[in-house]
Amino acid sequence: MNDRKVIPLFSTPLYVNNLGNFNKPDLRFLDYTHKTPTGESFSFLTSVDKNVLERPDLASIRTLIMNEINYCAREVYGVAGNVEFYITNSWINIYGRGDQAGAHMHNNSLLSGVLYLQAPGAGGEIVFHRDVQSQLPFPPVLDLDMGIYNIYNCKSWPYQPKTNDICIFPSIVSHSVQPNDSDEARWSLAFNVFVRGSFGGLHKLHIK
Ligand SMILES: [Fe+2]
Repeated sequence: MNDRKVIPLFSTPLYVNNLGNFNKPDLRFLDYTHKTPTGESFSFLTSVDKNVLERPDLASIRTLIMNEINYCAREVYGVAGNVEFYITNSWINIYGRGDQAGAHMHNNSLLSGVLYLQAPGAGGEIVFHRDVQSQLPFPPVLDLDMGIYNIYNCKSWPYQPKTNDICIFPSIVSHSVQPNDSDEARWSLAFNVFVRGSFGGLHKLHIK
């Protein structure tokens, strides 16, 4: 008999849920480009419109996503109700066979997320990367051999998305996308989230 336990202190919350079937508008009519706003080239296509969730025909999807963001903000991150979370940008990505994305993080954003509108089984994992400067569980100057791979020692963690999955994570977490090994395209809706409202004690901050 023992009472061993491990408490994952100061960990990175990667929130995942499956939303089940929901109505999806035809997104093929949007304009798509290979260029991201940063000028960095990626092989996948991304919508020119970076506010797709403001389109009326995506209103119900916006509601679904906001419900997930609010659940995450209140129940996972534990943020109080006076802090409003809102979507700053939202865009569609299309990954054909072989398309992938290098490691990146999302600037000017607190939380980021992806809703997988269509995710073929071999459509490529999203991979989250540990900060290379992370001192935990050991400083990076040590590269110890590991007997098992787990959330405490991993340098990266893959997640294979399924259709209608949503992932929400801190925008500062570096992530990449593995190549799509399927002939079926992968469609995803990505979004960034920021906060507004009045918060703080002595030095109150007002963000509109
Ligand atoms: Fe991303």
